[in-house]
Parts: sequence; structure tokens; C-alpha cells
Amino acid sequence: MTGQLIPQELQARARDLARQMTLEEKAAITVGRDFWTTQPVQRLGIPSIWLADGPTGVRKSPSAHAPGIGDSLPATCFPTASALGSSWDVDLAREVGAAIGIEAQVQGVQIVLGPGVNLKRSPLAGRNFEYLSEDPVLAGEMAAALIEGVQGQGVGTSLKHFAANEQETGRMYVDSIVDERTLREIYLRAFEIAVRKALPWTLMCAYNRLNGEYCAEHRALLTDILRDEWGHEGFVVSDWMAVNDRPAGIDAGLDLQMPGGPSVPGVMAAVRDGELDEARLDAAVEDILGIVLLAEASIRPVAVLDKAAHHRLARRAAAESIVLLKNEANLLPLAIEQAGTVALIGGFAREPRFQGAGSSEVVPTRVDTLLDELGRLKGTSPIEFAEGYGPEGTADAARLLEAKNLARDAGVAIVVVGLPSSMETEGRDRTHIDLPNSHNDLVRAVLDVQPNTVIVLVNGSAVRLPWLAEAPAVVEAWLGGQAAGGAIADVLTGVVNPSGKLSETFPVRLEDTPAFLSFPTAGDGTVRFTEGVFTGHRWYDARKIAPLFPFGHGLSYTTFACDGLTVDAAEFGDDGSVEITVMVENTGARSGKEVVQVYVGECTPRVPRPRRELKAFAKVALEPEEDKTLQFSLTWRDFAFYDVVAGTWEMDGGEYEITIGASAADIRLGARVTLESTHQAPVVIDRGTPLSNALQHPVARGLLQPILDGMTQSFGGGEASEMMMMFLADTPIRKLAIMGVLTDDQVDDLVAAANARPDGL
Ligand code: BGC
Repeated sequence: MTGQLIPQELQARARDLARQMTLEEKAAITVGRDFWTTQPVQRLGIPSIWLADGPTGVRKSPSAHAPGIGDSLPATCFPTASALGSSWDVDLAREVGAAIGIEAQVQGVQIVLGPGVNLKRSPLAGRNFEYLSEDPVLAGEMAAALIEGVQGQGVGTSLKHFAANEQETGRMYVDSIVDERTLREIYLRAFEIAVRKALPWTLMCAYNRLNGEYCAEHRALLTDILRDEWGHEGFVVSDWMAVNDRPAGIDAGLDLQMPGGPSVPGVMAAVRDGELDEARLDAAVEDILGIVLLAEASIRPVAVLDKAAHHRLARRAAAESIVLLKNEANLLPLAIEQAGTVALIGGFAREPRFQGAGSSEVVPTRVDTLLDELGRLKGTSPIEFAEGYGPEGTADAARLLEAKNLARDAGVAIVVVGLPSSMETEGRDRTHIDLPNSHNDLVRAVLDVQPNTVIVLVNGSAVRLPWLAEAPAVVEAWLGGQAAGGAIADVLTGVVNPSGKLSETFPVRLEDTPAFLSFPTAGDGTVRFTEGVFTGHRWYDARKIAPLFPFGHGLSYTTFACDGLTVDAAEFGDDGSVEITVMVENTGARSGKEVVQVYVGECTPRVPRPRRELKAFAKVALEPEEDKTLQFSLTWRDFAFYDVVAGTWEMDGGEYEITIGASAADIRLGARVTLESTHQAPVVIDRGTPLSNALQHPVARGLLQPILDGMTQSFGGGEASEMMMMFLADTPIRKLAIMGVLTDDQVDDLVAAANARPDGL
């Protein structure tokens, strides 16, 4: 342990306590006491701690023995992760995290189960609403801020679901087959950023298998990568019922099983029989105790919980997350006083959908509706309401007709459509990305009769918008938490200038999406991440597929301009950095916020790499005509790829393009830089290495060149020799033995000699 998270004296106490525990006590503490709490050891004064869902608010069950979905203690329901991710505002995420931390303290919860940084591989994934982005950098940075916020209040987090748990279909058993590079650069990257930056107290391992091994028993994942490489100090908890083989899990680095179950005798027997090294059990016990002691030391009395302030924060956060997708002829913000009658249409305006279904479902402290909140901001304009569709997306011809008539006679229509909760739930993926037919029919009917129509979308993940060309204004409001109704009213009326940017690409059609051919299963219990590193915006860019709305897209009621990109290029060692500055100016007439997005791409990579990858971003508030200069520091890791042969991150020297975008598809500025790499990844030569590659290696070249020269001569020189050399270039070293040029032993000696040299490339 590095002692960054858990102070040395607590670590020492944890070690000391672990030494005093009996085998039974040690086995018992690695298995939950019930559904939500850990096993205490009264004899030694070791308390129990309470873990409760997240991630959008505290979901504490009234009983430690029951899941408590639907009857948890009331708490502020903040915007879901898909919304908050679209705010691109790390300070806001930190604030929301802090509010969640305070509520956890009040409720006696020591660990909040979240945030979730699984990535939106497909828009079909049922839990996308619970995840922050399709992009690992955005997801990782936002998660780090949330963790800092919660933990700043003395409450732990559980970064989840570790790892490659990108779907609901078969989530308890599916085997995610992900190549090493994709895993490192995409799916693990979000976790790595959050772990390294924010030191979460715990991580939650996923249900699924990863490349053949259940995550709950995956040593490479839980120990080699998480602890040895990234330095995680806290404990790892299983997702609820993710454990398959408890002793094997402990051996792999899964410290705590939740919820409780009859695993203790098995763990004890495994130790007694020598199947589980007691030292591995001790390590798990110490990890748990370190956090239990930290939690105990972090308990703070909260005098009064200011629920109203948290509700206001939920409203602000929801408003910051709303994405203005389209706004022709500046229909928005509504000039509400001049609008005449406002036709507010759609059941969601009166009975809002504000969160997804499943374990994250918070019982809110209160719920605002768009109908009420728009009523408060409308001035003298009358608002008339029509349902437009039936519950759960059912069609209702009478309601449709009523809505159409209302819209026809109004000055402006606001139509609220989206996904019913059955389409966005934990445990089930979607089968399409369409809105219910009744919602699309309603939109079309209103657009037919009312040119001033604003469509408000309420959904947790991308949807298809077949009527987009006819709709003058579209607002993506997400599942914005309990105060979403007010936030939408704020944006529609211009009280808040929208500044959200899509944290996921909206495709024209499902067939365009990266995982279309491989989601959710290959039919043999596996899901193969066949698109590799080309996920999300990387895919659309590489395939030149125009999305409906690109990643990072979002309009404002003002305009911004970027200028003066400067890059100080550098030589790169592990501690090198490239400093970028860029100026952004508010060129419109309202104050607003812009998200500056920094993308990086290697110009002529030796492995297939995305043309542009998000590496940094910042959200900046600007008054009209104000400008600010932003500075970003990129390190060698921002230019590196994961070299699977060397098993390390590698930045090749050469030319890179650094671009500034208003979205992944709206690149405003660019600069090419030539970087000199001083980072030396080992080049591994083996018997299968082709001769052309081996010749790049100084030692192997020294040994091989004379042999090849001899062969060239023996071919008689000229064209025949050239042909043979071309043929040989592709030939693995071991074939020199088949050809009788070397013996098998000589091939082995050559490989060993090449790898032995520390100064190999
Ligand atoms: C979910 C987790 C959740 C846990 C406890 C599981 O089914 O996957 O995200 O934290 O239940 O409710």
C-alpha cells in the first residue's frame, strides 16, 4: 500500500487487528453480514459498515436484509450519469458528489455504490443511463470528480462494474472477449483514470467473464492491473451475487463478497486444506479493515440536511446537462410573453420520467414537473396541457387528436417524448433505438399543424429521430433527476443558457453503430468486442459515417469562437508534457458556457489508431465579448497506444495532430507537432517474429544480418536474390531452422541473446 488513501497508522492498526483474528473471524469478514452491511468483530471493536446504492443518489434500504428497491429512504435524486456526463463539468460533478456524500453521512451509509464507468458500446445497452459516456476520458474524468466529491465528505465510493460489463444480456455469465489493446485503451482506461486520480475506497467487480475468466475471480484484473499497476489501496467488493468460487476470488483479489451467503466454511476449509494461501486471506482482511477503519474515522455529524439546497443543486445540475440539439431560427429560448398560448404536450410533462429502473432507483425527496415549473416561469402566457399518448408508450387516438387540436390553436407547442421505463432498465437491453410509435406519431401530428414546435426528449441513451428534418428545435433533457422539470423550464425559457454536450453519439440508424454486428452476443455465451478500439466517435470518424448528432455536440443561445492555438512540442520521456493554449471567446449576446474539446491523433501510426481521440476538455463560462485563454497539459500517455507485443504503453516518435473541436465532428483548430520519443518500450523477439521485424532490433539485426547476407549471395544476386529477400522478410525466425540455415538450438540462442540485452529498442 502506498498510504495515499489509508493513513499509515490505520494501515498498521488493520494489520495488527488482522493478526489477532481467528481463521473463522477472518473468513467471516470477507463475506457480507446481510444484504448491505459488513461483518463486525465485536471482540476486537471492529465495526460494521453500510454499503448502499448509488450512483444518482443514496438508496438506503430500510432493512439490511432486503434489497429495498422502491421503498428506500428518501434522498435527493440527482441527474442520472448519462445526463451528468453531458455536462462535461467536473466541478459540478464534484459538487453533486459532495451532496451525495453528505446525504450518505446523514443516513449512516459509509460507502455509496458508484459511479459507473462502463462505456456505451452500443446505444442498446439497458443500463446506459447509469453510465457517464461512450468515451473513456470523459467517463474517467467525470467519475474521478464524483469520487472526489463523495469522498471529500468522508464517505467511500465503489467504482463499478469492473470490467467489460457493457451490456445487460447475459450479464451474470456472458464472456466479454476483448483484445488486450482495446481493453487497455478503452474499457479499462476509464477505470484507470478514476483510480489513479481519485483513489476510490472500493471497486465493484462485474458479474460477467472477461476473456474466459469471471471478473470475480480474475487475478490479472483484480490484482495485477488494479493493485500492482494502478496502486488501488482499498478493497474490491463483488457485485451483488457475482461470486462463483469464494476461495478462488480471495486468491484473485476479491476482498468482500456481497451480499452475505454461506461461503465462510468453504473459505476456512480451503485455507486448512492448503488450497488457499492464508496470506491471501490476510491480504483481503487487511484491505477490508483499512477501509472499515477509514470509514469509522471519517464519520461526521451533519447538523441539518439542507434538502432544499440539494434540490436546487439537482436542478442546476440537470440544466447544465441538457443538450440543445437543434434550434432553427432561434426558436429557443421561447419568447414566452409573446408566445400566446403555450401547448404543453406529453404525459412526461406531468408525470416525469427522471431516472432509470433497477438498483439505482432513488426514492426522491420531491419531484418537480415541467407542467408546474413552466407555469411558474411563463409570465402571462397561458399554458394548456394535453397528454398526447397513453402510459408506458401506449397509443391513444383520442389523446393524440386532443393534442393536435391544442397545438394547432396555440402560439407554440412543446412536445415531451421519450422512452418508457420498461425500455431503460437494469437487467435488460433494448432491441431497437426507436421511441415508441405513439411518441413519434405525436411529434409528427404536432409538426403538421404547428411550425413553432419544440421537442423535448426524455431518455437515458441515444434514440433515433426520424422526424428531425421537420422539427425546428430539439432539446435532449435526459433522465435529469427529481428537479428535471424545473431545469427543462429554465432552458426553454432562457433562464439557463444550455451548455451540455452529447456524451454519446446519436446515430442515424442502429445499423451505423460500432457494435451493430456483435451486440449483445455471438450466440455461444460470448460477446466479442469486434470493433476494437474503434468505439463511439472513433468509429464514425474512421468509417466516415455521418451520425445524426456527433459526440460532443451541443448548441447554445450564444456563439463561441476559438482561436490562437499554440502548442509547445517536446521530447517525450515518462515525465514530458506538451502545453497547449487556446483562446475561446463568446461572440454572441448572452452569457454562456462552452466546452473546449482537445483531440489527438497520430498521423502515420504503425498500428491502426483512431484518427482523433478525446484527451482533454474544459468547460468555461463567458460573458458576451469576453474571452479566456485555456491551457491544457498533455503527457506522453495522451499520445501512447498499448503495444501488445511489448505489453506496455508506447509512444512512437513522429507527427501528431492536435485539434480543438466543438464536437468530434466539428473541428475548429488544428496543429501538427512532431514529437521525439525517449520512452523505450522493450521489443520482444520470439521464434515467430518475422525477419523484417527482427531486423529492426539492434541485437537481432547484428546476429541475423550476416546470415541473410550469406543467403543472398547463395541465391546468385540480382533479381532472384531480391525476390528471395522479399519472401524472407515475412518469414518467422524459426523457419531458418526448417530451411536448414540454423539449428533449432541456434534459433533459441539467437532469440535469447536478443531479449537478454537491456539496450534493445
Ligand atoms: C447491480 C449493482 C448494484 C447492486 C446492489 C447489482 O445488481 O449490478 O450496480 O450496486 O446490485 O444493488
